Amino acid sequence: EKGGYDYFMLKEIAEQPKAVADTLLGHFQDGRIVLDEQRISDQDLRDIDKVFIVACGSAYHSGIVAKYAIEHWTRLPCEVEIASEFRYRDPVLDRSTLVVAISQSGETADTLEAVRHAKSQKARVLAVCNTNGSQIPREADAVLYTHAGPEIGVASTKAYLAQITANYLVGLALAQARGTKYPDEVAAEFRQLEKMPEAIQHVVDSLDPVREIARELAGSKSVLFLGRHVGYPTALEGALKLKELAYMHAEGFPAGELKHGPIALIEDDLPVFIVMPPVEGRGVLHSKLVSNVQEIRARGARTIVIAEEGDEAVRPLSDHFIPIPASTTLLQPLLATIPYQAFAAEVAAARGYDVDKPRNLAKSVTVE
Ligand code: F6R
Repeated sequence: EKGGYDYFMLKEIAEQPKAVADTLLGHFQDGRIVLDEQRISDQDLRDIDKVFIVACGSAYHSGIVAKYAIEHWTRLPCEVEIASEFRYRDPVLDRSTLVVAISQSGETADTLEAVRHAKSQKARVLAVCNTNGSQIPREADAVLYTHAGPEIGVASTKAYLAQITANYLVGLALAQARGTKYPDEVAAEFRQLEKMPEAIQHVVDSLDPVREIARELAGSKSVLFLGRHVGYPTALEGALKLKELAYMHAEGFPAGELKHGPIALIEDDLPVFIVMPPVEGRGVLHSKLVSNVQEIRARGARTIVIAEEGDEAVRPLSDHFIPIPASTTLLQPLLATIPYQAFAAEVAAARGYDVDKPRNLAKSVTVE
């Protein structure tokens, strides 16, 4: 049932256009974003004054992407927290706090306990989940389901892109409830989202050069991933995929932090991945990242740059250039993450590891 692919993970990478399209389906009706289940009133949703996002692993990374969108669209303060830390630090919660719990399985113990703690403090809980009838959505006040379908590969791929998509819908639903976006603006954002499956398909169809780079770098001891803004969670996700599948040391961090320490790690031939912001957002951040690429290259690193097709400023500084289609800044993680998934899978395969079943890992972690 791998559909001609060597691993489920490769099949699931290829299913991402559908996972995103299916997650959007039916959520924009009569000019409004609709959730799947809503057991709190519209008034209570309007009264929310603070958002916490809790999740683990890749779902946590999708939450960082969401923070950028939610704060931008709703003007609500939004914090993202690793679920296993949340309830042990006495977070400030009340009935006007919304806790968004993101979980593919809906059974992750750390996330479930964070939800229970939030509810005990009277906070409202909204679940983003891929599994109908699982525990986290059952205990939540509102639910938005991702429609990635079952994910067999232990490493999250299509569920991750579906989580990012659903998180955007949560952000738009909140903006709509609060009136921080006019209905035509919400509609315009939704139409941008609807264009993404085609762009994702384009990236999925152009992964061969990434696989070649992966085979070339399969012997590396360590790999760094850099990005800014939503490129930062993308860097974290790139590093996690490589750690869990290829058992290779990898680290993702915001490119602006480079000069505060990590630049000391840069040495000859160290592979460093960088995601450039899209042309739409080009400005200060773009030129700062160009300088980062120059700095690390001057210190001998091998630069692997993911950027929009026409990004000529950075191409000459790239040892490898991975083009992706144009998008808005906020939606770019739906494209820029995909080469990282393919890279990790190919390095793992080149090293002789089981891509679908990495050592020591289970698909759903039901103990704290
Ligand atoms: C990484 C991965 C894990 C999960 C994490 C949360 O590829 O799959 O990091 O994202 O264990 O799982 P869920 O989303 O089921 O709560």
